[in-house]
Order: sequence, then structure tokens, then C-alpha cells
Amino acid sequence: MLNFEFKNPTKVFFGRGEIEKLSTQLPKDKKILLLFGGGSVKNNGVYDQIKKALGTHNYLEFWGIPANPEYEVLMSALDIIKKEKIGYLLAVGGGSVIDGTKYLAAAALYDGDPWEILKKPVRTSEKEALPFATVLTLPATGSEMNSGYVISRKETQEKLSSGGPGLFPEFSILDPEVVRSIPKRQVANGICDAYVHVLEQYMTFPTTATLQERFMESVLKTLQEVAPKVLAEVFDYDAAANFMWCCTLALNGLLQKGVPTDWAVHAMGHELTAYHGIDHARTLAIISPSHYRYNFEAKKQKLAQYAENVWGITSGDTEEKAREAIEKLEEFYHSLGIKTKLSEYTHQYKDTASKVRAAFLSRNWQGLGEHKNLGPDDAYKIVEMSY
Ligand code: NZQ
Ligand code: ZN
Repeated sequence: MLNFEFKNPTKVFFGRGEIEKLSTQLPKDKKILLLFGGGSVKNNGVYDQIKKALGTHNYLEFWGIPANPEYEVLMSALDIIKKEKIGYLLAVGGGSVIDGTKYLAAAALYDGDPWEILKKPVRTSEKEALPFATVLTLPATGSEMNSGYVISRKETQEKLSSGGPGLFPEFSILDPEVVRSIPKRQVANGICDAYVHVLEQYMTFPTTATLQERFMESVLKTLQEVAPKVLAEVFDYDAAANFMWCCTLALNGLLQKGVPTDWAVHAMGHELTAYHGIDHARTLAIISPSHYRYNFEAKKQKLAQYAENVWGITSGDTEEKAREAIEKLEEFYHSLGIKTKLSEYTHQYKDTASKVRAAFLSRNWQGLGEHKNLGPDDAYKIVEMSY
């Protein structure tokens, strides 16, 4: 097992009705900015619960953070934060609103061009950001209990990430009741994103971190088990609760302690969102099967372990099990209604591999993957295999 440090300061309030605790958890002595997406919270009762809990707190509202939080929109929010001397942020939404809020928390105290934070990128240390909290409305990213974020900029077709220990939410409220109103397409995205978060930390090579391996296999199996229940028409609270907690645990930092990690699927996936606007989770379903096929030799033992421990495949040798693992993975994406080829999302896909190679070259990304040996040419081939 590799050495590690682990600190996660985010306090979680989990369960039905927990949103009312905002009344005691939010500061009374600071001006708060509430940040929202496009308005789903007005139709599902979340906004009303928040208004009630906030009572006499001093707050303003900012609406309109879009999916794949957009730099230009966030700059308008930053103006308000500065002009109104906002001292605390509350994100109410999915990964996009939460990520946008993290970026704003960092940008508010950053002395310089805010785009630099993403471009360099600049890590945000403790006390270098405004304090903030979240009310999660869409289980998927884990952003509610981690310190990373991803921002898009249409003007330059870029999607860049940053983070740092100063960007953990102070607290996050996770009420599984919010899952009721989520469109099935977004539920499927959430399952897929969380699933691939685990794979990025798991699908490397066999390790001696036995507990971490079992944790990860458990999250994968639980997601598989709850997927049909949360996608069904009838709402199932316990399935929603397990789905939500899986998503948080998949990326709150615990699973990756003591093990090697990959994250190349995300690196390539973000480019597909930047060029084609494809939902984040779907880009991962497009890239991951090709990534595992391309890196078959390096990953086959872990693929075979996944086949055995997650899918119960016991027959065949290592290579056969590993190949079946990739097929099972693709079948799982399809069972969520998620397509796995780039050409199924856009007709303008042919120059995508070249654009990814050029972007990775410009950032000098030469060492992706758990062995840090994948460069722009490998990314080109993997993306091309995903057409
Ligand atoms: O904007 P509103 O009207 O609220 O609608 C949203 C949005 O259109 C809707 N929605 C959210 N909760 C709902 C709901 N609709 C009905 N009922 C509810 N309860 O869902 C749509 C998508 O929301 P979004 O926040 O964009 O989805 P998600 O949570 O998947 O976030 C995606 C973003 O997070 C980044 C992605 O790259 C992408 O930009 N990620 C962040 C990570 C992190 N911070 O750790 C890790 C991930 O790998 C990912 O990269
Ligand atoms: Zn993701």
C-alpha cells in the first residue's frame, strides 16, 4: 500500500428533511450569495425549503449557472461578490453549480486575472478562498465533498480543472428526496460518472491495498444494483439514498488513498465536452472502453479482477476474463441508455483525435495514466478508437 495523507473537512448532513439545518449552519454575520442553475429547484420544492430555512439571514441570489459551468457567466457572479462584499457562498445544484461556486470562492480572493487560476493552474490553499457550503440536487460528481472543480470556456473551447485544500465545502446537505425530480437522462449520467470515478482509481494494476480494492468493488456493485431502481418510474427512497452516497464516496478522496490512479479517461473526456458539448458522463462512456482496449496489456490483470469480483465471471484465463470485463462495462453503459461511440453523438467527429492531440501537446501532457507513460499520440489513438 502506498503512503498517503487524508483530510476531508466537509461535514455531511444526509437524509430526508436535512435542508432545514441550513438555518443553524449558515453564518448570521456574513452576507451570503446563493448560487443556482437554470431553475429546477423552483419546480421541486428545494428553493422553497431553502427560503424557509434562511429566514432572516442576509443573502442575495444568483441564477443561471449552466451545465458545464461557463466562465463568462461566473464572471458576472464574481462582480456581484465583489460589489456586494459577499462573505459566504451557498451552492444549490449539481456538479456544475458547485464547481462554479468553488471557482468563485477562489477567484474572489485571487489577486490577478481569474482565468490564470485555471490556465496555470493555481492551487487554492486553506484560507485563500471564501468559505462556502452546498445543497446537492444531483448525485454524480462528488463535488459536494471534494476540493476539485472543472470550468468551461466556450470562447476558447477549453474545459479546465483546478482545486486545492482551500476548496472543500464547509458542509454539504444531501437529501435523497431531490432524486425524485431528476430527469432519467441525468440520473443515468450520475450513475455513469460515479462508476467511472471508481474505475479511474481502480482499473490500474493489482495492488496490496486490499481494503481499498474491496471498497471500490463494493461501490461499483452497489451502483449496478441500484441503477435499475433509480431509473424506474416509481421513486425508491432507499435506492436513491444508496445512489447518492455512492456518488459522494466515489470521489471524496477516500478510495484513492494508498493506490495508483489513472484519470486519463477524464482528461480525454473533458476535451469531448469542450468541442462537442457532450454531457460529461457520456464522454467517459465513449472513451473508457477504448482506453481499456488500447492499454490492455498494462491493465489486463485488473480487468480480470474486476470481471471476477464485480461481475462474478469465473471461467476463462486472465485475458478472456479481461476482454469480457470490457464487454460487461459497455453493456452496463447501454443498460443506462448511454451510447458508447463518439459518432453516435455528433457527425462532426473526424478531427476530434487531432484536436485532442494538439491540446495535450500545447499543455505538455506527456505522462497520463497510472504509469505516467501516455502522451498526446496515445490520446490520439484512443480517441480515434472511440469514433
Ligand atoms: O440547472 P438546473 O435547472 O438546476 O438543472 C440541472 C442541469 O440542467 C439539472 N438538475 C440538477 N438537479 C436537478 C436537476 N433537474 C431536476 N431535478 C433536480 N434535482 O441537471 C442538469 C445537469 O446538472 P449539472 O450540475 O451540470 O450535472 P452534474 O452534476 O453531472 O455536473 C457536471 C459538471 O461537473 C463536472 C463536469 O465536468 C461537469 O462540468 N465534474 C466535476 C467534478 C468534481 N468537481 O469533482 C468531477 C467530475 O468528474 C466532473 O468533471
Ligand atoms: Zn467525472
